[in-house]
Amino acid sequence: MKYGHFDDKNREYVITNPRTPYPWINYLGCEEFFSIITNTAGGYSFYKDARLRRLTRYRYNNVPVDDGGKYFYINENGKVWSPGWKPVKTELDSYECRHGMGYSIIKGEVDQLEAEVLYMVPLGYRGEVQRVKLTNNSDRKRSFSLFSFVEWCLWDALEDNTNFQRNFSTGQVEIVDSTIYHKTEYRERRDHYAFYTVNSKVDGLDTDREAFVGLYNGFDAPDAVMEGKSRNSHAYGWSPIASHHLQIDLEPGEEKQLVFVLGYVEVPVKDKFVGPQVINKAPAEEMIAQFQTPADVDQAFDDLAAFWDKLLSVYQVEHPDEELNRAVNIWNQYQCMVTFNFSRSASFFESGIGRGMGFRDSNQDLIGFVHQVPERARERIIDIASTQFEDGGAYHQYQPLTKKGNDAVGSNFNDDPLWLILSTDEYIKETGDWSILDEMVPFDNDESNTASLFEHVKRSFYHVVNNLGPHKLPLIGRADWNDCLNLNCFSDTPGESFQTTENMEGGVAESVFIAGMFVLYGDAFVKLCQQRGLNSEAEEARGHIEAMKNVVDQHGWDGEWFIRAYDHFGEKVGSDEQEEGKIFVESQGMCIMAGIGLEDGRARKALDSVKERLDCEYGIVLNNPAFTSYIMKYGEISSYPEGYKENAGIFCHNNPWIMIAETLAGNGDAAWDYFRKICPPYLEEISDLHKTEPYVYSQMIAGKDAQKPGEAKNSWLTGTASWNFYAISQYILGVRPDFEGLRINPVIPKDWSGYKVSRKFRGATYQIEVKNPEGVSTGIKDILLNGKKLEGNLLPICEEGSVNEVEVLMG
Ligand code: GLC
Ligand code: GLC
Repeated sequence: MKYGHFDDKNREYVITNPRTPYPWINYLGCEEFFSIITNTAGGYSFYKDARLRRLTRYRYNNVPVDDGGKYFYINENGKVWSPGWKPVKTELDSYECRHGMGYSIIKGEVDQLEAEVLYMVPLGYRGEVQRVKLTNNSDRKRSFSLFSFVEWCLWDALEDNTNFQRNFSTGQVEIVDSTIYHKTEYRERRDHYAFYTVNSKVDGLDTDREAFVGLYNGFDAPDAVMEGKSRNSHAYGWSPIASHHLQIDLEPGEEKQLVFVLGYVEVPVKDKFVGPQVINKAPAEEMIAQFQTPADVDQAFDDLAAFWDKLLSVYQVEHPDEELNRAVNIWNQYQCMVTFNFSRSASFFESGIGRGMGFRDSNQDLIGFVHQVPERARERIIDIASTQFEDGGAYHQYQPLTKKGNDAVGSNFNDDPLWLILSTDEYIKETGDWSILDEMVPFDNDESNTASLFEHVKRSFYHVVNNLGPHKLPLIGRADWNDCLNLNCFSDTPGESFQTTENMEGGVAESVFIAGMFVLYGDAFVKLCQQRGLNSEAEEARGHIEAMKNVVDQHGWDGEWFIRAYDHFGEKVGSDEQEEGKIFVESQGMCIMAGIGLEDGRARKALDSVKERLDCEYGIVLNNPAFTSYIMKYGEISSYPEGYKENAGIFCHNNPWIMIAETLAGNGDAAWDYFRKICPPYLEEISDLHKTEPYVYSQMIAGKDAQKPGEAKNSWLTGTASWNFYAISQYILGVRPDFEGLRINPVIPKDWSGYKVSRKFRGATYQIEVKNPEGVSTGIKDILLNGKKLEGNLLPICEEGSVNEVEVLMG
């Protein structure tokens, strides 16, 4: 069953039934100010950091789900409703939520009175703008009350959720005309406040939650709204809110528009106050002046659309398959921007208080984003590298506000450093900007201790070389990509962290996955060395890589697939010798992407094993057979019930590794089959089962051993976004940036007759048409560049601004 439809022309998903199987969300903002918004107007806003600068309050895992948000209420002669259906839940005569690129439009109609709210964060603006359009579609005059509502968060979302003995006494607001200022803690060490305003005179206001809602009501029936009358309350402590009341009259056919702004302001310390306890409102007034009329909003809306036109135009495919087009051209790229911005911090499954930016995650997110805004990717690489340690190791996470490494889960996730090579390599391939390697970058954010980015990358490589285990395979440390395979932590105490408890002396467990990674990204390091003329450096690195390949041949192959790891006792993990967890997907993907076994048939064997043992109707599960009990020496992985999360769930993030591996093995049909299985638009029809948004990837879909196979969780913030975009755009459709140009190498299903890709690269445009008259999967007969036959498959870098016709004849 579907709950809406795609509107590709407007790049929107249109939800037409508010009772979606789970709140279906969107993100507003793509720079510094952000909001999360659900299809019924739930959600919250924050500035830069979802934990430390949370503007509005949100209660996760609430009952009912998703209660609290940016609500509007209408009370017409006692009939109360909300345009987004929630929180009032009065049946609407019509309902629609359009989630678009950086905005959402929620519209409801009751008795021919229509209310539409556009929620957006304009470019370059530290605030959310809400345009409310009220239309009288009836032939009688209408008089009604409109109420707005937001609930302030006292900035630090964790404190806000826990420290009530203090919080209930600190809340402070100021009110000037139609603007409500939230200034809790501004009197002391904060130099920021928030405001909520409307471009009109108001008939009443509220800033105290209890006065507005009533102590024994929910958001569905606030006292003030039900009575049609604000309390004009002033909050002193307890829970400050902001609500406006406007009395509206509409003639038949008349439409009125209002502009609300929820803004964030920082003030230099010396200018904080203009009088005793009176905050400096000048910066807020400036922001408010920017959005005085609906025309101001229209302009910002058009600017946002133009911004996305430009971003998305860098890679566009034209294929007979409509789902593929909308995935590649719109939603997958959009999701890549979102994961780039948030890493794993704030979604409807990530509370915004748990994790900052992941070292590993952010490097991977970058590969799906770098073509959009390369300058931001560059800055991100430097930020990440700045948290690296001198020995090449890394904090697992850093805080987006401070950009400092965060020790919450420590370091020694031994795959982390290598991902820096991936992101740097992809950045240079996209931009040709070799200067990034000369950038001086601190270790552990210590500005007095810096080295070039190249040196950082080199230390990433040697961190593996310097941390080998008994088989000369890389030591796994706390964990590698699979955070839940905790081979050096034997935890038997409830609540203990699986990742940070280190109680196994020596930590000798080893990872075949990191070995594969080392070969793959080590090779990228060698090429960087060569480009810089560092030939002996390259040779030395190559020696280490060859040695690692030999070790994988000797100790990493199980007969039908690659082994996953060696545990604390030197026993194989992911081997036929085991009863459970015989095979894991990660080492198959990584070793084959590294080219291991492609020449001698082992890659094919491993991929056949994946097909046979890990593939199912909804995707590729992580391991098989699933663990049926807790195995202390494996850790968190076996803590999950069968078929969920890392224990044999379809962890979508590593499915594209297998897609890429299949393309390297020349099997376009298999790669495509895996792609389709987890690609959201193809799952729209099973939204009931799938549960999460049909326009974005989820981290996990329940696997074949689960109670409910096919049910997804943890949508939006997952490495799945960037890896799937990478797999489809570069390896299946086969248009891949390289140092000297665009490499063309499609590996497609045999029954595709052709498709077109438009790619902007280093300032030039390439209009690529791929034709497949002989029904092959792979292989190129001819490439014509502007009518001239090309030797090889590398499109050279063409003149800036040029538009180049490329014909690719497969066969
Ligand atoms: C989560 C983490 C990611 C990890 C994956 C597998 O998505 O964010 O870093 O690789 O789980 O455990
Ligand atoms: C849990 C999750 C895993 C995630 C990790 C992050 O272990 O299962 O997916 O990577 O937490 O700390």
